[in-house]
Amino acid sequence: MKVTVVGAGAVGASCAEYIAIKNFASEVVLVDIKEGFAEGKAMDLMQCASLNGFDTQIAGSTNDYSKTAGSDVAVITSGIPRKPGMTREELIGINAGIVKEVAANLIKHSPNVILIVVSNPMDTMAYLAHKVTGLPKHRIIGMGGALDSARFKYRLAEALNCPASDVDGMVIAAHSDTGMVPLIDKATRNGVKVSQFLSEERMNKVVEDTKVGGATLTGLLGTSAWYAPGAAVSEIVRAIAQDSKKMIPCSVMLEGEYGQNDICLGAPCIIGKNGIEEIVKIDLTDAEKANIEASAEAVRKVNALLAGAVA
Ligand code: 2OP
Repeated sequence: MKVTVVGAGAVGASCAEYIAIKNFASEVVLVDIKEGFAEGKAMDLMQCASLNGFDTQIAGSTNDYSKTAGSDVAVITSGIPRKPGMTREELIGINAGIVKEVAANLIKHSPNVILIVVSNPMDTMAYLAHKVTGLPKHRIIGMGGALDSARFKYRLAEALNCPASDVDGMVIAAHSDTGMVPLIDKATRNGVKVSQFLSEERMNKVVEDTKVGGATLTGLLGTSAWYAPGAAVSEIVRAIAQDSKKMIPCSVMLEGEYGQNDICLGAPCIIGKNGIEEIVKIDLTDAEKANIEASAEAVRKVNALLAGAVA
């Protein structure tokens, strides 16, 4: 499998690193607009090959998309990241133009590519990618839910004082501080609902800490996070590479599912060699349904700001 990662900043480099370390792809191409930057990151990563035991070939390119030709998957991380105090939504003006141009360049050289959108505001950027490329919905995947679910599991494990491998849970709806819907009532520790171990107050704290997971890190780091975003992307790419049919919450164009239309929003998806192979419908409580509705409304308001970029 050939994977392109556009944007060799912290998130893009982390994607490339995790994809290489997991050793399922033959080739990763890193692309960046800054002269020599992607080449440098690629060389640094390649010097880890003998140390970390991977065979993936990593190459860098300064904005030359011909090097990305024939990619099976392309990850779009380009754009500006959040600074402390900024919401993901505030990035739209700059990032919309970048994502539009990057998506067009990728498809020109890899007409069958599956796109994974990471740039923020992620649900709106995935929606934009649909509108400007016209790709079928199974070939555009927004990565937010994979990351948010990992952050949810981290917070659940912290509350339960157990390893993250003991817990299971999903976050659906928007990848935003107010729009995420962590499915706490369905979360389990080894199959047992977490409500058997945690008070309602503690569960509410898990939910709130999960929702501001990105903002908390932005406050600490001065820019947005990269390790967990990179790891989340690498798991989606692995599910495609291995045709594993893994269920991963991803932002996907909804056509009636969860009562929504013409919007990219996080929902549980089956990921395989074709990208999103199924949107899984799960039973939701009335509170969860109301939260999804509110989340979708907020995303629609951000999508409305795209008017110029989509035209
Ligand atoms: C985050 O939540 C980058 O949006 C990403 O960290």
